[in-house]
Amino acid sequence: MASVSLKALVKEYPGEKGAPAFRAVDAIDLEIRDGEFMVFVGPSGCGKSTTLRMIAGLESVTGGDVFIGHRRVNAVAPKDRDISMVFQSYALYPHKTVYGNLAFGLEMMGFRKTEVKTRVGAVAESLGLTTMLGRKPSALSGGQRQRVALGRAIVRQPKVFLFDEPLSNLDAKMRVSTRQEISSLHKRLKTTMVYVTHDQVEAMTMGDRICVMNGGNIMQVDTPLNLFNAPANLFVAGFIGSPAMNFFSGHIQTKGTQTFFVETNPNGRQLNLALTANLSRRVADYQNKPVILGIRPESITSPKSVLPDTPTINVQSQLKLAEPMGKETFLHLDTGAHTFTARVDSEFPYSLEGMVNLAVQTNEIHFFDPTSEERIT
Ligand SMILES: Nc1ncnc2c1ncn2[C@@H]1O[C@H](COP(=O)(O)OP(=O)(O)O)[C@@H](O)[C@H]1O
Ligand SMILES: [Mg+2]
Repeated sequence: MASVSLKALVKEYPGEKGAPAFRAVDAIDLEIRDGEFMVFVGPSGCGKSTTLRMIAGLESVTGGDVFIGHRRVNAVAPKDRDISMVFQSYALYPHKTVYGNLAFGLEMMGFRKTEVKTRVGAVAESLGLTTMLGRKPSALSGGQRQRVALGRAIVRQPKVFLFDEPLSNLDAKMRVSTRQEISSLHKRLKTTMVYVTHDQVEAMTMGDRICVMNGGNIMQVDTPLNLFNAPANLFVAGFIGSPAMNFFSGHIQTKGTQTFFVETNPNGRQLNLALTANLSRRVADYQNKPVILGIRPESITSPKSVLPDTPTINVQSQLKLAEPMGKETFLHLDTGAHTFTARVDSEFPYSLEGMVNLAVQTNEIHFFDPTSEERIT
């Protein structure tokens, strides 16, 4: 097992026809602990795969360093890094059987036939592949193929597992079960895993910690709950959580002893939210200055469902669209300047195109600086 550290790691791709080089990874620093399950998440093109491939040695490093354990591996060949990688495309040998696919890496490493047989047998057993060892990949379902790809990574007993969107080719049901399988695998093996996905549900459910990336930079590295409860900036706030956090631009205003958030609304009536003492202190430096208020849909609910002692403020908004999800309903509303989403239970009464009354839980409000986009703490 091993830690992985990235120090001021840069990847530039040469520009075409004299164009300037493109910086896909922009001097990132990251410490992945020994035995940790680290997830890289972010929108398509943010540099997740490039970073993972530099750890694997499949992509050269433009600047900075990659360490696996205490060893600097910038110039070490992929096969000598003691890593196993699992790809979205499975990358199985089509002409080999499941057994042949699982055994190949070990055979190349010079393991004795009996040792290969024991290791392949054990891994096949643990992944439910025992009855399929004689089949070719073409005779397997997508989920079974991905299990073979997983098995092939496991038999080598590497120091670090690298996964690049391994579930993206599976159907929704298979994605959930394979996700759980990989999580249990991590619990059992306790080997360092680095897992790339664009899917925040995968990130939240699998990661010990999550590294949120955007435009070749790291936006925040933290546990799933800390990312959710205390996003460091607007990007993370908007990226983590579904439906996404609602944002309102406005400014802070104090009248007498009460501090308010006043929505910027050139179209008429403004949303005025009286802030709790705690929140008022947080935005004390922003008197009459612009701020962005963020609040999650789950913090805007039916006034009846709010627990006693929860500070709330009631707001009235125009309903534009309702999406019944079964246990709950997503209401899409409009203040005249901002659209936002509320999450109410399915019994909540509403009429389309009507006004609805909702309770905003003011203790769950976030504030961001509109210029720096950083969270105001
Ligand atoms: N071989 C390459 N040549 C030029 N640009 C590339 C190459 N590979 C990736 N890129 C660019 O680098 C950026 C990051 O790519 P990638 O790491 O694959 O993103 P992600 O995995 O987060 O979707 C993208 O803008 C992509 O177009
Ligand atoms: Mg990718």
